[in-house]
Amino acid sequence: MGDIKRVFVTGASTGLGEGLAHHYARQGAHLGLVARREEILLQHKAAWEAEGATVEVYAGDVSDTEFMESCAKDFVGKAGGIDLVFANAGVGIKDRIREGEAKEIAWLMQINVIGVTNTVVPFVPAMLEQGSGVLCAVSSFAGHRALPRRSAYSASKKAVTTFMDAVRMDLHGTGVHAMTLCPGFVDTPLTKDNPQMMFVIDVDRAVRYMVSAIERKKRTYTFPWQMNLLKEIVFRAPEWLMRKIAPQSRTKTMGQ
Ligand SMILES: NC(=O)c1ccc[n+]([C@@H]2O[C@H](COP(=O)([O-])OP(=O)(O)OC[C@H]3O[C@@H](n4cnc5c(N)ncnc54)[C@H](OP(=O)(O)O)[C@@H]3O)[C@@H](O)[C@H]2O)c1
Repeated sequence: MGDIKRVFVTGASTGLGEGLAHHYARQGAHLGLVARREEILLQHKAAWEAEGATVEVYAGDVSDTEFMESCAKDFVGKAGGIDLVFANAGVGIKDRIREGEAKEIAWLMQINVIGVTNTVVPFVPAMLEQGSGVLCAVSSFAGHRALPRRSAYSASKKAVTTFMDAVRMDLHGTGVHAMTLCPGFVDTPLTKDNPQMMFVIDVDRAVRYMVSAIERKKRTYTFPWQMNLLKEIVFRAPEWLMRKIAPQSRTKTMGQ
């Protein structure tokens, strides 16, 4: 585990957040878990404390700035500091641009963008005082390039990457590192009904990619490797090609 012993994870009830939190739980870390479904977090607490971890549960919404500030303060106080913040909570929506529907987009932005800033920023003073720590946000392959029918999701993930890039430059030389992970398709509840996925990996494999990137203090890390290669093509692809390869459906679940 190296120096990572105090870990704060949002979106810890299922999927990537659960997987990453469990990885550090098995190594005896002190964890702070955030999600809205308290009953699942309490089940994780019972199971993971039996494996040697210490777990604080914070049931609530990442888009609530005051709530997230109070979680950060409480966790730093209880754990005696913070080594890794994993800003992972996120949602996908059906794209309803043609219907003129703005409400769902506002909701998604509150979670996927404001939820990340609410998670990361309150921990910065504690990390600066320590002179160490990693702030890691989960963006997506979809953040590399605008995707039709995924406009809000794609834009929210681009915002996360840009925000974390700026934070990293801002904190340069302080010992605090800011980074972004860009998963391709991972088999989680978010993607369960997505019929159009490629190079799908399971959560265990995703956790291995993510832990390795965190421990090597990568800046922006796309995985699996096939999606990292595809990223280079997508960067340069003309819009007619993007229109062809983008998801055709306007389904609720999505991933990527
Ligand atoms: N799976 C993929 O293929 C894929 C690909 C690229 C990027 N990603 C990104 O990876 C992250 C995790 O997704 P996942 O695939 O692991 O999906 P998931 O299993 O659905 O996990 C999403 C997590 O976020 C939490 N969450 C959602 N809204 C929240 C809110 N308002 N406040 C607090 N917690 C909230 C959920 O818990 P509650 O419902 O209990 O609140 C859940 O723990 C997301 O940011 C997603 O965009 C996933």
